[in-house]
Amino acid sequence: MTTRRFLFVLGSSRPDGNTELLARRAAEQLPEDIEQRWIDLAEHPLPDFEDLRHDSDHVRPTQGNVALLLDATLAATDVVIASPLYWYSVSAHVKRYLDHWSGWLRTPGADFKATMAGRTLWGVTALAHEEQEVADPLVGTLSNSAAYLGMRFGGVLLGNGSKPGDVLADCEALTRAKTFFEQDAPLARFPYEAA
Ligand SMILES: Cc1cc2nc3c(=O)[nH]c(=O)nc-3n(C[C@H](O)[C@H](O)[C@H](O)COP(=O)(O)O)c2cc1C
Repeated sequence: MTTRRFLFVLGSSRPDGNTELLARRAAEQLPEDIEQRWIDLAEHPLPDFEDLRHDSDHVRPTQGNVALLLDATLAATDVVIASPLYWYSVSAHVKRYLDHWSGWLRTPGADFKATMAGRTLWGVTALAHEEQEVADPLVGTLSNSAAYLGMRFGGVLLGNGSKPGDVLADCEALTRAKTFFEQDAPLARFPYEAA
C-alpha cells in the first residue's frame, strides 16, 4: 500500500492567515500515518521564473528554495495549494511556484510529468467576497494545471474571511474542512473533455 505524503504549499503574503487556518483544520483530519509537510512560500521565496525552455536545458537545482520546492513536490503524493484569493486567482507566490513547474517539466532527470501523473492536486483558499463563484478562476487554474499534468484533482476548499481569523467564523467552511480530504479525487479533465 502506498503511504500518502501531503505537501501543503502556503501562498499567503502574511503569516497565520485565513487560508492557512482553514488548511490546518482540514489537515487535522488526516490519519496520523499520512505524512504532512508544510512549506510557506513567503519564508522560502522562489526567484522569478526565467523561461529557458527553448534556449537551453534546465539544470536540476541542487540547493536553495527551488531545489527545496522541486524535491518536496516530487516527493508528495498529494500537493495542496493553499492560496488566498488575490484578484480572483492564486497569489503571486503560488503563481511563481506554478511557473517553476514549467521549468521542472524540462529539467533532465526530474521526470516531473511522469512523476506527477496520477498524483493529486488540492486547493484551499480564503476570500473576502461572500459569493464563492468569484473564485472560479483560481479553481480553473488548479484544475486545468492538474489536467495538464495528468493529475487527479480533489477540488478547492473555500472559506470566507477578510482579516486573519475571520474564517473561523465560517461554520460551513469548517464543516467542509472536516471531510475535505476524504473526497474522491478523479483524474482532472480540461473543460472541453468533460463528458
Ligand atoms: C492583493 C490582494 C488581493 C485580493 N483580492 C481579492 C479578491 O479578488 N477577491 C476577494 O474576495 N478577496 C480578495 N482579497 C482578500 C483576501 O482574499 C482575504 O483577505 C483573505 O482572507 C486573505 O487570506 P489570508 O488571510 O490567508 O492571507 C485580496 C487581498 C489582497 C491582499
